[in-house]
Order: sequence, then C-alpha cells, then structure tokens
Amino acid sequence: MQTDVLVLGSGSAGLFFALTVAEQSDMSVLVITKKDRSESNTNYAQGGIASVVDEMDSLEAHVRDTLIAGAGLCHEDAVRVLVEEGPQRVDDIIALGARFTRTSGGKLHLGREGGHSANRIVHAKDLTGRELERALLTAVQLHPKITILENHYAVELLTDHQRIDGARAKKSITCYGAYVLNEPTGQVEIVRARQAVMLATGGAGQVYLHTTNPLIATGDGIAMASRAGARIGNMEFIQFHPTTLFAPDANSFLISEAVRGAGGLLLDKDGERFMSNYDAERMELAPRDIVARAIDAELKKRGDDCVYLDVSHLPSREVRHEFPNIYNRCKELGIDITKQAIPVVPAAHYTCGGIVTDLEGTTNIDRLYASGEASMTGVHGANRLASNSLLEALVFSRRSANHLLERVKKEKKPIKDVRLMPWDESGTENAEEWIYISHDHREVQQLMWDYVGIVRSNYRLERAYRRMKLIRKEIEDYYRKTKVTVPLLELRNIAENAMLIVRSAMRRKESRGLHYTTDYPNTDDRHWRHDTIIGQ
Ligand code: FAD
Ligand code: SIN
Repeated sequence: MQTDVLVLGSGSAGLFFALTVAEQSDMSVLVITKKDRSESNTNYAQGGIASVVDEMDSLEAHVRDTLIAGAGLCHEDAVRVLVEEGPQRVDDIIALGARFTRTSGGKLHLGREGGHSANRIVHAKDLTGRELERALLTAVQLHPKITILENHYAVELLTDHQRIDGARAKKSITCYGAYVLNEPTGQVEIVRARQAVMLATGGAGQVYLHTTNPLIATGDGIAMASRAGARIGNMEFIQFHPTTLFAPDANSFLISEAVRGAGGLLLDKDGERFMSNYDAERMELAPRDIVARAIDAELKKRGDDCVYLDVSHLPSREVRHEFPNIYNRCKELGIDITKQAIPVVPAAHYTCGGIVTDLEGTTNIDRLYASGEASMTGVHGANRLASNSLLEALVFSRRSANHLLERVKKEKKPIKDVRLMPWDESGTENAEEWIYISHDHREVQQLMWDYVGIVRSNYRLERAYRRMKLIRKEIEDYYRKTKVTVPLLELRNIAENAMLIVRSAMRRKESRGLHYTTDYPNTDDRHWRHDTIIGQ
C-alpha cells in the first residue's frame, strides 16, 4: 500500500491532523487504526477541553495554572503555544459540528477542574470525548482524500534499518512508513508513506493493573518509536486519576474531576473530609498528583479499600443533568449518586511523557511526527493539568500538519523510493500457548501497579527493573519464534513501555509532580528543567 501521508491512530490527534492535511493539500491521507475507528482514549474523555473563553479569565492565568501543575518541568514556550492557540482550535471543532454544553443565554458552559483558577472547561456534559470523536470522524469520513482502515495494527516503523541496500543517512534516520498487521487476513503488509508518518497512537495506561484507559492504550507508538531510535522523554510521569469507581465490575470507570469542580467532597469511611491535611487551600480541587497521593495515604493509614466522593448535598436535578453518563453507570451498579457517596480509588490515567517533539511535532526521526498522548511536547512537565490533553492533541496536530504542508511546498518532491525489506516470518510458528501471553500481560500490569505506582522507592524500582528485564527477554524470545498476533504485539509493547517508565523513574533522584519516591521525598532544585530522556 502507498499513500502520501500515513496516520497511525484515529483519536483526536490523528483525526485532526488528517483533516488539516487533507483540507489544505492534494495529498492522500491513510489513517490506520487497530480496532473500530472510534475506539480511543479520546472517546472516553469526560471533563472537557481547557480553554480561555470567558472574558473574566486570561491566557496568563491558564499558563500559570499549567506551569504550577507541571511542577517546574513544563517547557514554557510549549505551554504558551498551547494556551494561546487553544481557543482557536476549540472554534475549529465547533465549526466542524461539535455540540458543547451551553448556558441558557447560549454561551459555552464552562466547568471547573482541579488546579484551574477559573472556570474554563468546555464540555459536552460528561461525554466530551464522545462528542469530539463523533464530530471529527464525521468530517474525516466525508473527506474524499482520507481513507480509514480499521483493524489494521501498526507493528513497526519502517526506517533506514529496513532498507534492502543497507544505506543510511549519516546524521539522522528517515521514516518511510510502517509494517502493518491486517488483522482479518493475518498478513503483515508494508504501508509506504511518500511524505510523512504521524504517530498518534495514544498513551500507555494499560501498563498498569488498574486504569481508566480502554484496552487500546498499550503505548504501541511509544514502543515502536523507541525501538526505531526516537528520543523518549519523561516516562516516569504517569498520572493517576484520583477518583475511579470502586465497585465490582466497575472496571476503573472514571468519576470526572468535574464532579469535584461542581462541589463534590472527598470523605473517608467515617464521613470526614481529609483534604485539609494535604492541601488546606485548594482542598478537593488541588492538582491531581496531590489528591491521588492524599487518597493513597488515607487508604494506607486507615487500611480501607476506598474513600468516598459525595455529591448528595448538591441539587439532584443538577447532578443528573450535568453528569448523565456517571449517574447512569453508577445507577447500573446499584449506586444512586444523588443519595449515596460514590466509593472511589485512584487508577493510572495519563502518560505525560512520550516521543520527544519540538513545537511543530517533529521528532529526531526525519519525516516522523508525533502528537497527542504518544508525544512529549513539553506542555505537561511533571504533571498534566486537567483537560489540557485534548487541547494539546488539537493544537499540536494542527501545528504538525502546518509544518508538513510547508515542507512539502518547499521540497516539491516526494521521498526517494527506497527498497524495503518485506516482513519476514520465516522460522515462526502459530502461538501454541495462549497462557504465556496472558500470564506475562498480567504479571507486567501487577508488577507496575505494586512497584512503580503512586509511591515509589529505590528498592521497589530495582525489583521492578530486575523482573522486567527477565520478562522482556522471555517475551522477545517468544516473539521471535511466533507468528504475530495483536495480543502478542501488545504484550511486547506494554513491556517496552514498562521498562521505559522504570528506567526513567530510576534516573530521577528526587520527588517531583507525579514521581514520588520515599528515598528522595523532596523536590531538588538542581533538577529544575531537567527532562529524563531515553534514546539518542
Ligand atoms: P487516543 O485518543 O487514545 O487515540 C489513539 C488511537 O491510536 C486509537 O484510535 C487507537 O486504536 C490507535 N492505535 C493505538 N495503537 C495502534 C497501533 N499499533 N496501530 C494502529 N492504531 C493504533 N483529557 C482531557 O483533556 N479532558 C478530559 O476530559 C479527559 N478525560 C479522560 C477520560 C478518560 C476515561 C480517559 C481514558 C482519558 C481522558 N483524557 C482527557 C485524556 C485524553 O482523552 C487523551 O489523552 C487523548 O484523548 C489522547 O488522544 P490521542 O489522539 O493522542 O490518543
Ligand atoms: C476528568 O474528567 O476528570 C478527566 C479530565 C482529564 O483527564 O483531563
């Protein structure tokens, strides 16, 4: 298969990039996605998109809130780009047909979330991601230059390493496309991109046993890019969302931070508020790292299974109207949130690190862009501010698309047609024992949850490192002799991400933002503006 531009992933980052490129050029765009087209973290986003819309709010305040949450590691130039271009991107999405919640006067209704000093969360009730994904997919499907292939799984990037002539540029490597597993046929095919590849494959929440992320979030793009030689940054900063539903079959269902923004209170089993012991000023609306650690500390101190998020004091009609998704899901599980407090625990939620990019989404691999949760643009630093993620995907996908369009205009010729090695499956056999894959999968998730979670220590990280090394070797040996399947590829990728997280965490000899270790409990100013980078 050949295309001008290959986009890996059909979440907000991939779709918005695809649309911008197709609308502003004659290039063909192929979007490949590993499951159904809407299955993505984007589709499950609840709270909304942070954006300075209200005249009482200011860009400076949004910048400041983002920098404070990021605990000294945000790249301020990236944050300014995010905040300043954000409102235009929200307008773009509305122009595409996204319907956000409005006040009775017709203005955008703005919600509140932790770490924000103003109401600035644009949202579609508590189903913002579904609305965003719907609007983007509708526009993409109508565009004649864009093709979407579902159930196509990107296995590896194609770079100079796969050239038949073995030639390599001296300074940097080039990306020519990807090996893609066509799941229905079971064949791995070469997909060539004449101009560029966009990696928008999302985050790696599935590395952890308890996560808000859907099953697709196995960090495939980060793993692929890392294997191809891309620089990967700040992987130790895994964000744990403080409040996911604690109930049998709840599957870490998210209880949006907007619930606390609307006045929800955190209580212990005795019905006492406890946030004053951790952040007396901001209480329930402190940034996520602080709230998640506070809950973790309460659970450990008291030996309880969960804490409670209570909205039963708020007007019941309002709760049902603003949070229909949360209300209905809890109701299905026997909890009426207008009358009872919601049992909650933290779970892995967001990958702040990823493939290092500049402000135009370019990576250290020529013709490879990255955007969205798979990327590290510098906007999140050591902890992402709530609802800055969808915004990041939109802002930086637009900038990446603009960069590509400019480059193509200047170059006027597509990439040289190099000969690439076809996928080689000689010597491999069909997977004999499913149990190896499922066991290792569980083991990685359990180990990461137990040793590389909200609170870390040198001892735990060293244990995790030793075990991950062994598990990764076993997986690699198995991979080399087995015909590839999606579960095997995902296992290999979560193991790769786990190792990146452990190695990054071991390098950071301080506590900062989402990385908290009992061996270095304080933030060390010598690490100010010091990202953890793995790769060339
Ligand atoms: P995704 O939306 O995850 O899309 C990734 C795409 O890549 C998917 O289509 C996937 O199938 C595809 N893919 C992955 N691997 C491969 C492969 N190997 N081959 C082919 N395709 C592949 N952020 C906010 O800003 N506000 C919120 O309110 C908010 N709420 C959230 C609630 C939940 C429950 C979750 C899980 C996240 C939330 N987030 C929120 C975070 C936000 O949703 C994500 O960070 C953002 O949607 C990421 O977009 P993306 O396009 O980068 O990745
Ligand atoms: C939420 O609704 O709490 C999630 C918001 C986010 O992840 O930014």
